[in-house]
Amino acid sequence: MTAADNPFLPTFGTSPPMLAGRDDVVARFEHAFARGPQHPDYTMLITGVRGSGKTVLLNEAEDAALRLGWRVISMSASVRDLCRLVTNAALQHLREADNGEPSRRVSSVSVMGVGVEWNERPATQIAEVDLRSALTALAANVAADSTGLLLTVDELQAVSQSEATELAVTVQHITRRELLPVAFVGAALPEIDETLLVDRGMTFFQRCARARLTPLLPDDTAAALRQPIQQAGGRIDDVALGHLVGASGGHPFTIQLLGYHTWEMATPGARIIATHAAAGAMEADHVLLEQIVKPIWSGLSDMDRSFLWAMSLDEADSEMSLIAERIERSPNYAQTYRRRLIDVGAIEPAGRGKVRFGYPQMRSWLRSQR
Ligand SMILES: Nc1ncnc2c1ncn2[C@@H]1O[C@H](COP(=O)(O)OP(=O)(O)OP(=O)(O)O)[C@@H](O)[C@H]1O
Ligand SMILES: [Mg+2]
Repeated sequence: MTAADNPFLPTFGTSPPMLAGRDDVVARFEHAFARGPQHPDYTMLITGVRGSGKTVLLNEAEDAALRLGWRVISMSASVRDLCRLVTNAALQHLREADNGEPSRRVSSVSVMGVGVEWNERPATQIAEVDLRSALTALAANVAADSTGLLLTVDELQAVSQSEATELAVTVQHITRRELLPVAFVGAALPEIDETLLVDRGMTFFQRCARARLTPLLPDDTAAALRQPIQQAGGRIDDVALGHLVGASGGHPFTIQLLGYHTWEMATPGARIIATHAAAGAMEADHVLLEQIVKPIWSGLSDMDRSFLWAMSLDEADSEMSLIAERIERSPNYAQTYRRRLIDVGAIEPAGRGKVRFGYPQMRSWLRSQR
């Protein structure tokens, strides 16, 4: 039997061939949608590092809502005018509901640059169409149909303070105070805990139930690799699989990258053994280095780079106090650079007073440059 096409898809935002290790998160929002606004998971915030599978989970939530016949508004906060776009999307849904059209997903892309007006229905006419009135009208509409509305916002860490406040106040009012069926799932990088969420005006987001995406467990990682390989008519031996599981560190994007390149090494036939896995892992490392690590590096200042050089001396997570010493600057000064480096994805917080590389490839690459 010849193997089919490569089943792995190392691209951001696309659903994997097998969604491994996230059943608990999926079950949480499915239960919440079924139970209604009083369920604690009805408003949820998913956080995780780049490539941990946040966008994919938002897509899962949207699919679950659509299966229930709900309306869906799917936004990415990296667009400007988030609240305006949510308003437009709500108006779009209202118009479709008026026309008896079936529920669907309206995304930021589909309403971008489209000025939607809603004035056909005098009975329900709204004097000034702001976010609150549009969403409230839509919430009442879906409630009357005994369905619901799901609002998802991706890249929430990129939203401006003022837009976040407006959104929070509105959804808080509709879902928590009026108990109307508007569910919310947001996704953000973990840094949101230190940026948007520290603000006092952000009670709504602070009170959202949390799903923190940690690396996949080894068994789930193995399943995420083995199952797509087998389904595509290939095979992988235990040694090769063990190698890939270890090399991935349970990071979902890296899993797809490793799966993809290892499969390529073993074509045609896709009988994957250790040599394919080793070659695939080298290729995946190379891709991570060229497509992610080096582009991050090239955008950094000399001081940012000194910070990372200082980190590369450590075998594991780095102590901020030690980095400050190594770069011969005050702890406060080092904090400023820490923040900037987190923002560009070069490093991640690693618990109290510690940081780690966003991509371990950066450490080995820096060391090879010395
Ligand atoms: N549970 C999973 N099992 C296997 N692969 C996964 C899983 N979750 C995500 N992936 C894969 O990982 C890659 C990254 O997923 P996704 O784009 O959702 O990450 P993200 O957290 O949104 O990243 P970013 O912060 O950069 O937007 C995709 O190729 C996706 O198919
Ligand atoms: Mg994403």
